[in-house]
Amino acid sequence: MIVLGIETSCDETAAAVCEDGKLLSSVVASQEDHAKYGGVVPEVASRMHEKLLMGTVETALSRASVTKKNLHGIAVTRGPGLMGALLTGISFSRGLALGLKIPFLGLNHMEAHIFANFITYPELEFPFICLLVSGGHTQIWKVGGLGNYDLMGETRDDAAGEAFDKGARILGLGYPGGIEIEKAARGGDSTVVNFPRAFFKTDSIEFSFSGLKTSLLRYVENLGGEVPRDQMPDVAASYQSAIVDSLLSKLRLAVDRTGIGTALIGGGVAANRKLRERAGNLFPDCKILYPDIDLCTDNAAMVAFLGEIYLREGKSSINSHCVVPNLRLSD
Ligand code: KG4
Ligand code: ZN
Repeated sequence: MIVLGIETSCDETAAAVCEDGKLLSSVVASQEDHAKYGGVVPEVASRMHEKLLMGTVETALSRASVTKKNLHGIAVTRGPGLMGALLTGISFSRGLALGLKIPFLGLNHMEAHIFANFITYPELEFPFICLLVSGGHTQIWKVGGLGNYDLMGETRDDAAGEAFDKGARILGLGYPGGIEIEKAARGGDSTVVNFPRAFFKTDSIEFSFSGLKTSLLRYVENLGGEVPRDQMPDVAASYQSAIVDSLLSKLRLAVDRTGIGTALIGGGVAANRKLRERAGNLFPDCKILYPDIDLCTDNAAMVAFLGEIYLREGKSSINSHCVVPNLRLSD
């Protein structure tokens, strides 16, 4: 089965083609216009998706050496995400599917982030624990199988990606913040500033990053509003460490509590090298997995891959094309 995946939930316009569980192509057009605003501007994102979608899809098809007529189905993100941005992808995909007379399926973006791990590890088996960390979500799920998801804990306020993005803004670094903080932290000593780690010593699986962000703000204000260049690596490394420690301590708790020996990390923050490196050390007794870097941040490969699984089961949403900006994985 050949499936086209389309992703437009935020500021990445992406298309990918998957055949029988194998990725044939994956194209991501990152919208650079947002960098100058220091964050995603929803209206700009929707307009850029409109402009970039057709070309991105055509590139994905041609790199996969398939034509539209070879497609057996189209999968697209229906939520969570920005309303206007989601609508562009859904409308485009539905129109294309109707024209080609093939099934069309709206998917949950966070579920696709979990399944990105199967592209990197085709032998992966259920059950597993998954730490989902993106710009809008920080959650730990117990995953028993396709459609079998139990939420073990989540953030009370900001998501981990948001903490990186807001921290980068306070530090005067660029957007997206995660990669900028990671770069700025290179060679830094993460023990120089002792930023708070909320819930670190509790046995509850929950996160909070708003206090950390305020603590960074106060720290920078005390330095006169700007971190001197020679102190930046230490400050960025300390801030990054506080986020990584919070995430991994709770993932550790989830693994210990369930006795499940496989833990995955998914979502944009899973691209963070410090997180990946420290996870490797903290889980000697457990398989710790994360997708290839370009499958962590938003992409359509994960949408095409998950779409193929559901389309094979006969699922189709040709008659229900609604987008759900706050779509949840499970309640
Ligand atoms: O999954 P994603 O691409 O989009 C959403 O679904 O939100 O995640 C985006 C988030 C952003 O907050 C970005 O700063 C963060 O992932 N991110 C990173 C890294 N690359 C992207 N955070 C830490 N380290 C990175 N290398
Ligand atoms: Zn995402």
